[in-house]
Amino acid sequence: MAAHTPASIPDGTSATTDRRRHAVGTEPLLSIRDLTVRFTRAGEEPFTAVDHVSFDVHPGQTVGLVGESGCGKSVTSLAIMGLLPRRGNEVTGEVMFDGTDLLRLGASEMRDRRGRDVAMIFQDPLSSLNPVVPIGLQVTEVIERHRRMKRSEARPIAEELLRKVGIPDPARRLKEYPHQLSGGMRQRALIAMALACEPRLLIADEPTTALDVTIQAQILRLLRELVEESGTALIMITHDLGVVAGLCDRVNVLYGGRIVERADRHELFAAPRHPYTNGLLASIPRLDAPRGRRLDPVPGSVADNLPWDSACAFAPRCSQPIEICRERTPELVDEPSAGPRPRALRCHNPVAPEDQVTAAGRPPSAPSTATTATTTTRTTGTATPAGGGASVAAPRDVVRDERADRPDPSSHIDRHGRPDQPEETR
Ligand SMILES: Nc1ncnc2c1ncn2[C@@H]1O[C@H](COP(=O)(O)OP(=O)(O)OP(=O)(O)O)[C@@H](O)[C@H]1O
Ligand code: SF4
Ligand SMILES: [Mg+2]
Repeated sequence: MAAHTPASIPDGTSATTDRRRHAVGTEPLLSIRDLTVRFTRAGEEPFTAVDHVSFDVHPGQTVGLVGESGCGKSVTSLAIMGLLPRRGNEVTGEVMFDGTDLLRLGASEMRDRRGRDVAMIFQDPLSSLNPVVPIGLQVTEVIERHRRMKRSEARPIAEELLRKVGIPDPARRLKEYPHQLSGGMRQRALIAMALACEPRLLIADEPTTALDVTIQAQILRLLRELVEESGTALIMITHDLGVVAGLCDRVNVLYGGRIVERADRHELFAAPRHPYTNGLLASIPRLDAPRGRRLDPVPGSVADNLPWDSACAFAPRCSQPIEICRERTPELVDEPSAGPRPRALRCHNPVAPEDQVTAAGRPPSAPSTATTATTTTRTTGTATPAGGGASVAAPRDVVRDERADRPDPSSHIDRHGRPDQPEETR
């Protein structure tokens, strides 16, 4: 494997940069360094699912982990939680939580931390709930254990939590078993259990994928409130850039188990630098796009990946590879940014400003990534969104100089790629 230079993690955030009720702490609550997970099942080729991943999460901060299926989002979170199977894998690196390396804790110490300090909303609700225990008892037990309350005190809190996550008639639902709830309700019950713990760090693995749009919005609002009011540090795992736009402060884009781009949300949406990030933005369905305009998915699949050892894994799918991409592994290096924190980028040939697809849409004359696997046509000037709205795609110098005067580019799409309304008018 190519020598790997751990990226510096300059995520230190000054309280003055975040206008929030609960200011982001200056010291990270969670510091992940070179987290690597290798599956080593007997009789199978070892497989590195998470490869030297490093990032920080501060109290009161929401950090996104974004990437397509199989890029290592869930394995990263399960490694943080100490929930990977004991056999058949190697986990290395550091997961420092408030000064303690969670990877070095014994099983019972880690069990104690889970729920109290660190909680997770799992991607698969059915397998995360006990099928033979009523939902109410499962939520109540969590409250009894973690808030040290009697059952009679915990029950009304459980009912209120179910109401908060949008479960209708919670008093009745508390008596029901997981199989009697719809998939969306089970997901909400899990979210209620995670909120009941009042954790210092919450990992939410695709928490809203199974939910309809109104409930999604409700859950995202709840998570935002939790972060702002109690200073919870939140890791939001999603493949939905709309969720990122609405919730995350800082975003890590993962590809093939490695971070390929890290930036503040505004930066990422205003000026994506990695071709994969650019491709993700181009693939968002847009209601304001002209009729008949086809989607621009990232071509190919993860099955096309090259090994990271001596190349860029994304090269076979990239819209603008150059010779070195198949010869040398790109390192994750810091770049200057328009914001308070640097951007980190792993790419030999980053996307030029005139080719950047922003939240407002792709440059009008830019080619489809699906049809330009080897070449990229340069467009000039500032891009105009397809619907003819305000221009937000901008060359980097414009981004740098006019940021304060422009609307937040990420606010231009909602969770479904639609042009978004300001929060107050929703
Ligand atoms: N227990 C396991 N044993 C072997 N390989 C595994 C195991 N768990 C996950 N993997 C592999 O690790 C890679 C990353 O999986 P992971 O579940 O983290 O993906 P993901 O990014 O969460 O995808 P999705 O968006 O579909 O949830 C995948 O290739 C997956 O097949
Ligand atoms: S330009 Fe090269 S290094 Fe950058 S993503 Fe494309 S293939 Fe990878
Ligand atoms: Mg997953």
